[in-house]
Amino acid sequence: MNEFTFTYPTKVYFGEGTAKKALSAELGRMGNTVMLASGGGSIRANGIYDEVKGILEEAGKKIVDFSGIMPNPTYAKVQEGAALARENNVDFILAVGGGSVIDCCKVISAQAKLDEDIWEMEYGSYKFPSEGIPMGAVVTVSGTGAEMNSGAVITCEDKNWKGPIVGVSADFAVLDPAYTASVPKMQVLSGAFDTLSHAMETYLGNSDRDNVSDDVALAVMRNTVINMRRLLEDINDMQARGNLMWDSAMAENGILKVGRLTDFQAHQIEHQLGAYTDCNHGQGLAVIHPVYYRHIVKDAEEKFARFAKEVFGAETAEEGIEALQAFIQECGLPTKLSELKSKVEITPEILRKVADTSNIIKCGPRELSRDEIYEILTECM
Ligand code: NZQ
Ligand code: ZN
Repeated sequence: MNEFTFTYPTKVYFGEGTAKKALSAELGRMGNTVMLASGGGSIRANGIYDEVKGILEEAGKKIVDFSGIMPNPTYAKVQEGAALARENNVDFILAVGGGSVIDCCKVISAQAKLDEDIWEMEYGSYKFPSEGIPMGAVVTVSGTGAEMNSGAVITCEDKNWKGPIVGVSADFAVLDPAYTASVPKMQVLSGAFDTLSHAMETYLGNSDRDNVSDDVALAVMRNTVINMRRLLEDINDMQARGNLMWDSAMAENGILKVGRLTDFQAHQIEHQLGAYTDCNHGQGLAVIHPVYYRHIVKDAEEKFARFAKEVFGAETAEEGIEALQAFIQECGLPTKLSELKSKVEITPEILRKVADTSNIIKCGPRELSRDEIYEILTECM
């Protein structure tokens, strides 16, 4: 294990039916003015918005509504939220949604306290925020694990760039599986595939042999696959949804990453694919992963063989990758770029741009060239 310091700032409430109790318990730290942030309308349709608003109103909070945060949240939306938070002297931000709402709020929180533009600050001066408006996250669709880390993934439309911006961590996170009950099947499975991807990408980074992070990552992968299969039998199996909700948090709360490096090359490619196409994150990963892994299998054969055996009960490294591909098909997730919902036609020119702008990871099984990324994307067509 490499040297590390591990500290955890987020208090977590987990359990079916826990949301109301958790929010009531946290009212004291929210101050008077609460920004209630949400997405495109799902929580208004399923009653969560009214429930949360009712709890805040009953406690006498002034509510500043900030809705319409889109999947793959944009930098413009971050700036809109930060301006609204400043104008209204917001004391607390309550993000109610999935990775998109939570990520957007993490950066709103930091930007609202800064005089300079946060993207310029992080990418121009390599400085990162040290404070923000306190926030809480109520998860309504799981998979990203965004509720338990300070990193956000934001799309800068003018730059054709989708990537990380460091924001603030939520002071508390509410993981109530009942709040995910209305998530459509395809989104449930896409989110769960994102979780599987996080654990695989972490596991394939450079690490010492026999470290516990590898073992925990394999356990999270195995558990994610088991519970996804339970949902294929019965999408309303709330116990399986709850198991996946905690898998999701475990995969991205930093525990798997301590003392080791990570790969995340598939994520880098998918993020840039998202910048150009606005495709769904988990579905983009489902297309890219098997193709990328066929390219690098010889560079991490032992690790792939262990993955094959422990996650899919397969014999060899190559068979493990084919089992992953078959599992993606079994879930009904996309296997080709042409199956993704995209805002533009996915042409070879678009793929070249994606390849030319993706981050290249140096601590995975092998550093890819831009031409090889293009080749991988072409094989995904
Ligand atoms: O916008 P609304 O109307 O709320 O609909 C959302 C959205 O269309 C819907 N939804 C949410 N809760 C629901 C619901 N539908 C029915 N019932 C409910 N209870 O679900 C759709 C997807 O929501 P979104 O938040 O976009 O999904 P997800 O949680 O997968 O987040 C994806 C974003 O997170 C980033 C991705 O890149 C993407 O931008 N990621 C963030 C990470 C992090 N911060 O650690 C790591 C990930 O690798 C990822 O990059
Ligand atoms: Zn992801």
